[in-house]
Amino acid sequence: MSLLVVDGLTVVYPGAGRPAVAGVSFEIEAGRTLAVVGESGSGKTTLALALAGLLDRRARRGARRLEVNGEDLLSAGRKRWRQLRRTDISFVFQSPVNSWNPTRTMKAQVKDGMAASGRAGRMPELYDLLGRVGFEDPERRLEDLPHQLSGGMLQRVSIAVAVIREPALLIADEPTSALDSTVQSEILAILGELRREVNLAMLVISHDLSVVSRVADDVMVMYGGKAVELGSRRNALHSAVHPYTKGLLDSVPSLDGERKTLLPSMAPGPLPAAGCPFAPRCGLAVDECRRTEPDLAPVGATLAACPPAAAASTYTSGSPSASTRSSTPASSTSEGSPGCSDAAGAEGPP
Ligand SMILES: Nc1ncnc2c1ncn2[C@@H]1O[C@H](COP(=O)(O)OP(=O)(O)OP(=O)(O)O)[C@@H](O)[C@H]1O
Ligand code: SF4
Ligand SMILES: [Mg+2]
Repeated sequence: MSLLVVDGLTVVYPGAGRPAVAGVSFEIEAGRTLAVVGESGSGKTTLALALAGLLDRRARRGARRLEVNGEDLLSAGRKRWRQLRRTDISFVFQSPVNSWNPTRTMKAQVKDGMAASGRAGRMPELYDLLGRVGFEDPERRLEDLPHQLSGGMLQRVSIAVAVIREPALLIADEPTSALDSTVQSEILAILGELRREVNLAMLVISHDLSVVSRVADDVMVMYGGKAVELGSRRNALHSAVHPYTKGLLDSVPSLDGERKTLLPSMAPGPLPAAGCPFAPRCGLAVDECRRTEPDLAPVGATLAACPPAAAASTYTSGSPSASTRSSTPASSTSEGSPGCSDAAGAEGPP
């Protein structure tokens, strides 16, 4: 059984023309990591916040299924979401500096967090864990205020506190993008090691494909709020199907700074109201692309939302693996409509 099941998740912010997350479906099994990649504004953070019950109160959320550990979260109220964030679901935010209150010592804040999750007595274990992830003299250094620690140290504390709770699911939104590359490598190694130890399911958001290639078992590519490609890391990074994924990979600079091909820039103004959201930038677009919004469908061993690319694909065998399978058949991955939104289920910050 998958640890996380997301089926037809849609999030609409008030006044927005298009959903920020548009009918996204995927599953994650315990012990596996799904990386979510996509450019700025593609809906990655909104997706993560929806999975942690942290959406802006005004956002409307709809889904056919949203389950963690077999529990239906669509009917969870604010109190239950708060409990879940203390026990089953941990969140590591992008900016280690902004994650901590600047006026209180780290120790006071860490202790509060541990007590809230019923782990007040486990501070010695936390010190051990911090020592293991390269945080020197944790007992003394946690007496400091956040600004007295480096970004790498703060993020180590965030990750250690998230993991010591032994959650079933860890969501990390750009956990290393604010850190320099050496620290970034260390943090990724720590995440990988801890994930294996406690059999965590992880959802890691990144726009950095080198991060994705290091942490992911599976990769979901988002564009305009939609999942446009979903498959194993190997397929997504080496045999991409969707033109956007291909463009993303082709635009990664090589070590000498050379880019093979640049993705066409975003057209000014909003994404198209109908059809494929990538059509204005797509060299393969045909008339049908501007009329019908494609859903994920199997293309060999991966899933891609691009009928022309699927038709042209040389893949002839294989089917999506259980861990990368969209949680509904391709024929029923239609967009969840704003009409099925659940304003009561949406949550504000804890
Ligand atoms: N609280 C909000 N209210 C209204 N619109 C929002 C809100 N948060 C995000 N949006 C909009 O929703 C869309 C998706 O934003 P989101 O932050 O999820 O994207 P992202 O992929 O995480 O981008 P980035 O890579 O820049 O972090 C964007 O158009 C954004 O402007
Ligand atoms: S559906 Fe059409 S416009 Fe969209 S990515 Fe595929 S070819 Fe391009
Ligand atoms: Mg974001």
